[in-house]
Amino acid sequence: MTNHPNTSPSNATAVAHPNIAFIKYWGNYDDRLRIPVNGSISMNLASLETETSVRFDPALSADRIEINGASATPDAARRVSDHLDIIRQMAGIQTHAEITSRNNFPMGSGIASSASAFAALSLAASTAADLALNLKDLSRLARRGSGSACRSIPGGIAEWHAGTQDNDSYADQFVDEGYWDLVDCLAITSESHKPVGSSEGHLLAITSPLQRLRVTDAPRRIDCCRQAILSRDFEAFSVVVEQDSNLMHSVMSTSQPNLTYWNEITFDVLTATVELRRKGIEACYTLDAGPNVHVITLKSQIRTVERYLKRIIGVLRIVVAPIGTGARLVG
Ligand code: PMV
Repeated sequence: MTNHPNTSPSNATAVAHPNIAFIKYWGNYDDRLRIPVNGSISMNLASLETETSVRFDPALSADRIEINGASATPDAARRVSDHLDIIRQMAGIQTHAEITSRNNFPMGSGIASSASAFAALSLAASTAADLALNLKDLSRLARRGSGSACRSIPGGIAEWHAGTQDNDSYADQFVDEGYWDLVDCLAITSESHKPVGSSEGHLLAITSPLQRLRVTDAPRRIDCCRQAILSRDFEAFSVVVEQDSNLMHSVMSTSQPNLTYWNEITFDVLTATVELRRKGIEACYTLDAGPNVHVITLKSQIRTVERYLKRIIGVLRIVVAPIGTGARLVG
């Protein structure tokens, strides 16, 4: 290994959006490589983003990492440096880096901040290290930092092909951001950090007797979701999206020890979403590992959905996100 040659580009800035999964990833077949037990489908969230700058500097004796204006916690710094080690190894360099990352949304509260963070970091750091990765290899790299990050590399609605090894586990675009007018009306019920992170949660999935059933049925749900999206059939889409979210939360709540990410307001938002649908409004819910509820609707229904959800006591605010583009370089 050598130090980074002074003649190569050594800094880059990238932006990536988080994503919300319609068909969820929960549990790994290989924890170290983050090879999931089932495939998944998600949309990128346009109005939310992480911007990350990476500068390799031969003068540094350690990585210097700043997240949202403060030095990274030891755990976060370790995870970022581990990811940089993979990139350094791919590029054949040993140089340390200065990393500055900023989110425009709260971290660790059921909005997948690790997805946009590792997608932006993978693109910025691999570019700064002079690795010209194609979209598949970039998605594979992002996956190593946080599984769901592989789905934030392509734009629009992405499908993560589970695969069985590092080479064949990656996400690509299923349809682009203009294909369907889906919008996420995200009801924020808490801004605090989740008690158990997803990496730890994935390890517990296997302890639930329901996990096997969830995984065995996943190809059927993926197929239903693909068909519903292709034919823009919101009714069929609602059925499979809510079923998949409920299955994942059933696994979480029957793991040992069990995981509960909901709070009391979460349930009120779920009930309100079902009520909206009964009134003929296209709306369905899905929850990641956090208490905030992603209510998926159509562009034409945003106002109605927003107004309805805002009335729920305990809902702090609504964040509206149409389908977003893929990760991109901005500097
Ligand atoms: O990528 P991770 O390790 O943060 O896991 C994400 C897990 C869920 O957000 C709960 C589901 C998903 O598919 O995004």
